[in-house]
Amino acid sequence: MALVTSKKMFEMAYKNGYAVGAFNVNNMEITQGIVEAVAEQKAPLILQISRGARKYASMSYLKAIIDVAVAENPGIPICMHLDHGDTFETCKQCVDDGFTSVMIDGSHHSFEDNIKVTKQVVEYAHAHGVVVEAELGQLGGIEEDVVGVSHDDISKHLTDPDQVVEFAEKTGVDSLAVAIGTSHGAYKFKTAPKLAFDVVEQVSKKLPGFPLVMHGSSSVLKEFKDLINKYGGQMPDAMGVPEEAISKAVKMAVCKVNIDTDLRMAMTAKIRQVFAEKPSEFDPRNYLGPAREAIKDMVKHKLNVLGCAGKAAECM
Ligand code: G3H
Ligand code: 13P
Ligand code: ZN
Repeated sequence: MALVTSKKMFEMAYKNGYAVGAFNVNNMEITQGIVEAVAEQKAPLILQISRGARKYASMSYLKAIIDVAVAENPGIPICMHLDHGDTFETCKQCVDDGFTSVMIDGSHHSFEDNIKVTKQVVEYAHAHGVVVEAELGQLGGIEEDVVGVSHDDISKHLTDPDQVVEFAEKTGVDSLAVAIGTSHGAYKFKTAPKLAFDVVEQVSKKLPGFPLVMHGSSSVLKEFKDLINKYGGQMPDAMGVPEEAISKAVKMAVCKVNIDTDLRMAMTAKIRQVFAEKPSEFDPRNYLGPAREAIKDMVKHKLNVLGCAGKAAECM
């Protein structure tokens, strides 16, 4: 089976109350860990690539790695998605490079300009059989290449449900990332968060059947922060999106959940552990191999939180 779009995945996810995991990939070990997990759990999969990932690994290497994953797993529907495309040109390049889904993140523009750039991307992408995700409202946090609003301002930049119908109609977009109080990275909240589920509910009433996307959805599990620090790391206290909140969202209109930070933490904890326990180790296979296993374990766990384990066949 070739790469697929997320269309069928979202249809089934919406109907059956689960979400598809969208995991960020930056190299071979991360990709292998994720793909081994979904293959074992028979789950649909979205592999997403950020601008930072393309800068780090190059598009041709990442595409070749994903092509192998697709060829080796004919029973698993896999979608290759551009995470946080910043301009029409970036999205066009990714459509031309073989992505089956692109995100145009026009959330930092005015409402009118967000509509304009999203519509332009939709026209080009749809003409090439590619689906498009856009964003309304703004997330917080700063990743290597993805700028968000400051943490103190997150609640002021939630998605406005009164804008979604006009946005969806004028752009023709296929899915929408909503800002409901999450942010990217490990340092999302100081205390247990209250996400704006009312926004999800209102949007889904205004756009029945329309798939929503949750960014910044890592849970920043304490167990992994503690392991990182036990083995010489210095991660300050951190809090992410509780997994119960994710499980609640996927039963609403949220059909795609973006996870990167939790994979980074699992990988880092394992590599630190190997180095701490075997200071003489210098063969990369002996720390990247266990790190790949740690990614696999984390993804298997997430697939169960998202409810998409066992759903590969219905998404084909
Ligand atoms: O949305 C942010 C993702 O975690 C990607 O982060 O830009 O550092 O690759 P990155
Ligand atoms: P996390 O930083 O919470 O993993 O979010 C990743 C993300 O939203 C990628 O688009
Ligand atoms: Zn994101």
